[in-house]
Amino acid sequence: MNIYIVWTEKNNVEVPILDEQQRGIVSTINSFHYFIQEGRGDEVLRPTLATLENFTTIHFTTEEALMERAGYPDIEDHKALHKELIKKTADISRESVYLKDPDMALKFLRQWWLGHINVEDKKYAPYVRKLMERV
Ligand SMILES: [Fe+2]
Repeated sequence: MNIYIVWTEKNNVEVPILDEQQRGIVSTINSFHYFIQEGRGDEVLRPTLATLENFTTIHFTTEEALMERAGYPDIEDHKALHKELIKKTADISRESVYLKDPDMALKFLRQWWLGHINVEDKKYAPYVRKLMERV
C-alpha cells in the first residue's frame, strides 16, 4: 500500500520548525488513509481529528507568532484561513456523515493542507526566512 501524501522538498517553506510540524500533520493524515484502506476508517476518525486539532493548534500558533515577528503584511488574512480550518476540523469530528464516509474527511484534509502549504504558506515564507537569518 502506497503512502497517501509523499512529502517532497517542494512542500517545505524552509523554516525548519514549521516544516517539521507540517510533516507531523501529513503523517497523521497518512495514518488515517492507511486505516481507511484497512476498512477501519470509522474507528480512527475521532482520534485522528483530535490529534490533528492539537497538532494544528501548535503549528498555527508557531506560524502566527513567526509571521508577526517577521512583520508579514497579510497576517490577518492568513490567520482567518487558520481559524476556518480549526472550525472545520472540529465540525468533521462532530458530524456523523464523516463517520459513515471517512474518505470524505480524508479527501478534504488532503486538499486543504496541500493547498495551504503550497500556496498560502509560500507567501509568508520569504519574510519568516529573513527573520530566521537574524536570530
Ligand atoms: Fe498557514
